[in-house]
Parts: sequence; C-alpha cells; structure tokens
Amino acid sequence: MSKKIDIEKYFTPDLSKARKRTNKTIEEVKFDLKETYKKIGLNKTYLIHTYGCQGNEADSETMGGILELMGFMPAITEEESDVILINTCAIRENAENRIWGELGRLKALKRQNPDLILGLAGCMAQEENVVDRVLKKYQHVDLVFGTHNIHKLPDYIQTAMFSKERVIEVFSNEGEIVENLPKTRHHKFKAWVNIMFGCDEFCTYCIVPYTRGKERSRSKEEIIEEVKELVINGYKEVTLLGQNVNAYGKDKKEDSYTFGDLLRDLDETGIERIRFTTSHPHDLDRKTMEAIRDSKHVMPFFHLPVQSGSNQVLKKMNRHYTKESYLKVLNDLKEIVPGISVTTDIIVGFPGETEEDFMETLDLVEKADFEGAFTFVFSKREGTPAASFTDSTPEDEKKQRLYRLNEKINEGYLKGSKRFLNETVKVLVDGVSKNDDQVLAGYSEHQKLVNFRGDKSLIGQIVNVKITIAKTWFLMGELVD
Ligand code: SAH
Ligand code: SF4
Ligand code: F3S
Repeated sequence: MSKKIDIEKYFTPDLSKARKRTNKTIEEVKFDLKETYKKIGLNKTYLIHTYGCQGNEADSETMGGILELMGFMPAITEEESDVILINTCAIRENAENRIWGELGRLKALKRQNPDLILGLAGCMAQEENVVDRVLKKYQHVDLVFGTHNIHKLPDYIQTAMFSKERVIEVFSNEGEIVENLPKTRHHKFKAWVNIMFGCDEFCTYCIVPYTRGKERSRSKEEIIEEVKELVINGYKEVTLLGQNVNAYGKDKKEDSYTFGDLLRDLDETGIERIRFTTSHPHDLDRKTMEAIRDSKHVMPFFHLPVQSGSNQVLKKMNRHYTKESYLKVLNDLKEIVPGISVTTDIIVGFPGETEEDFMETLDLVEKADFEGAFTFVFSKREGTPAASFTDSTPEDEKKQRLYRLNEKINEGYLKGSKRFLNETVKVLVDGVSKNDDQVLAGYSEHQKLVNFRGDKSLIGQIVNVKITIAKTWFLMGELVD
C-alpha cells in the first residue's frame, strides 16, 4: 500500500541554495516535546541504522532520544520495529550505493508490514537528486527529513502514522541551534559532544558544506554544562565534534573566545579525557596547541587531514595551505606538544592529479611521520565544483595509487605502535576483545588500540598496561599497578 503524495506540501532540497551563506544571526532555541506527543510511541519500537561520520552517530543518538521521549522503545530486530530510520551519508558514491541497496532490501519488509514507518534522514536527504529518486522510485519510504530539522521528528512521525501521507521535508539552509535535545547515548563512559555545526570551507570535492549548512558554534555555556553533566553521570571521555573544530567561535564575531579557550575550560570540568575531531590545518592556531600542552585531560592525539601533498592539487581543492605550510603547522604542533600522535586523511586521484603530484603526497607522508590515515579515491559529488573538473586518470591507476599510498601509511602505523614497546600506557578499558573474551580492549591516550588480559570489572576504568608486543593495528601488554 503506497501512501498519498501531496506534492504541494513537499519541502525538497536545493544544492545551489544550500551553497549560500548569509550574515543572519543564528538564534538558539530549546527543544520541548508537546504533552500530546508523549504517548504516541507507547508499546511501539524503533531502530536507527547509522552511516557516515561521528556527526551522524551523534544525530542518531538525538533521534533515538526524541523517539524514546515519545514512548518508543528500541527494537532488537527489523521485523518487530514500528519505525526504522536510515541516517545516511553522502560523502562518497560507494557510501550512497550501500544505502540505496539497503532501501531496496527494506521494500520486502514494508510489504510484510505496511504499518512500518520507514524514514530516510541525514546528508543524502539534503541532495535534490536523492529526494527526486525517492519520490519516484522508492514509494515505500514514508518519511524524508534532513540534517536541519531533526528536532521536528515528532511532527513527522505523528503525520506519517495518523494521516497516512508521505512526509518529505528538507530545508536547504540551517535554522536555529536547538538545545535541550534528548539523547540515547550508546556508550556508558564515552560521549560525543557537538561543539559546532556546518562547514564554510567549501573544499571543491566535498558535499558537506551543502548538506550541513553554514558554520555555527554552540555557546560555550551549553557545551561546558553538557560535559559537567556527563562527568556527574560517570562519563570518562568526551569527543568534541565539528567539521572544523579549529574554527570554533569564529562565527561569533563579537567574541574572541575560540577553540583553545574552550579546551582550557573543558579541562577544568573533571572529565578524564578530551578528544576532538576534525581539524582544518589552516585554522589550527598556537592558542590551540598551547592549550593542549597545558591541559591535563586533552589527549596527545591529533587528526589533521592533509588531503594531498601537491601544491597544485591543494589549490584546486581550495584547501588554503601548501605542502610547506602544512609541514610547518605540523612541526609547530610536534614542538609544542612533544610525543603527540598525528593521523590524517588523504584523497588520491583528484581530477588532474599527475604521477608527480602523487609523488609529492608520498613525500609529504614520509616527512610528516603520520601514525595512521584514512585514504580515499576521489569520488565525484554532483553539485560540487570538482564534479566538473577534467579528470583523465584511469580508475585503475587511481586504485594503484591508493595501494601504494596505503603501503606507506601502514609503515607509519607500525612505527607509531613500536614507539610504545616496553612503555607503560594508560588505557580506558572499552570491553572484551572481539576475538577472545578473556582479553580486554581499550584505547591509550595516543589513541592506540591495546589488548591485555584482565577482569571484566575493569571495563570503564583507566588502567596502566605495559606494552610487550607492538603490531601494525594494535598493541598487546600486561596489566601493571
Ligand atoms: N571535515 C572533515 C572531514 C570531512 S569528510 C575534514 O575536513 O577533515 C572526511 C574525509 O572524507 C575528508 O577528509 C576527505 O579526505 C574525504 N572526502 C571528502 N569528500 C570526498 C570525495 N568527494 N571523494 C573522496 N574522499 C572525500
Ligand atoms: Fe568537507 Fe573541507 Fe569542510 Fe572538511 S573542511 S567538511 S573536507 S569542505
Ligand atoms: Fe557523511 Fe554527512 Fe558526515 S556526508 S561524513 S554523514 S557530514
């Protein structure tokens, strides 16, 4: 049974509108759930499938929080769910293809259970070609909403359930910052904390500035309050989230309070570990580096995406730095915070990248001493400038470059592991190892995966482990006092 389509009511996205940046002041509003919505989900269950970055994981925790406030309970299986939301990622074509496959698969479930509400959310929902395709070919999707209107989920669920209409509402531009949103945190002692939303960098390959809107920072008071509350609830680690955390506060022009200040203030909240992701090299300032140096709880780990080592590619990517200036920032960071572990992101096969350009990237990797990297082959994103750049490198050659790059990156992983051999490191114990339930697993301050024998009662605690074996992907050691 397909639902009515009332085309007049649709709000569909427009990537060219999403590109626009205005000077309008971003208001802050508080989420509040109408009393009449609090019983809608009683005796009903939900599932959320999450793809993409930590930003999406945090958003899914908000969607879960809202649904639970409406009375829904988490489901174990898809078959027993009354609501299934797919929180999508648009960063690369293969991410999207997986999600199309998933939506196709869920058609059979919807046929078995016509009352199921199937929703598409997240970054893909912000793309006009996606919404078009869902409207025409995926009639079994009842609900589409984007990244700017998660707080309106109660209205959408109500309409989808009771009026038997499809609900499609995606805004191209950001609205207010919504505070007081409920969250179902998936972890008992590690939490995501959004510090800002959106991105104004417009790297030419990237869809994120279109799907997430203009850069806007949460107020420091809200962030500090959230972290203090997490401490009271037993949380040990927070990861501060933003597409470019180094730009924190720069949208609030009247104020000079930026990321370094926030790190210093959060260091005083009593949280054991502070991590953050992601940083843009051209916004990384000394104030931030010195805050890391002076703090007790900010971890000695930095993910600093470089994308390429070739100056002409960096320019075409609109990254605002050169190979030389990147290495200078990196060296300053390593000088100010000795021993810090640095990882990166790299794209190979950007349109027009030559073998010489690629060799520059390999050279940079060697000089930078990265201890890890996420590496990607360029993926064309409709609506971004790079989608129309001439690209004559064969796909096979791009894959070859990725392979060669990964070989070098893996050397860095191993070197990064080996420097902890015979050292004692502090590990926040996450749980039992995937392969052996007698073995515990957790992360060191430098973000290395560490396995060791120990009692399950240590889960959630920070313990000392002496490293006895250093492998490329993990360390092994023994518990010490
Ligand atoms: N805001 C973050 C990360 C955003 S996406 C940052 O700038 O670091 C994570 C990574 O995906 C990027 O760093 C980039 O390496 C990769 N990426 C983004 N768009 C891509 C594309 N079109 N093709 C291939 N990789 C891409
Ligand atoms: Fe994308 Fe660049 Fe923004 Fe990162 S900084 S989200 S790569 S546009
Ligand atoms: Fe993907 Fe959107 Fe994150 S495109 S990487 S889910 S910001």
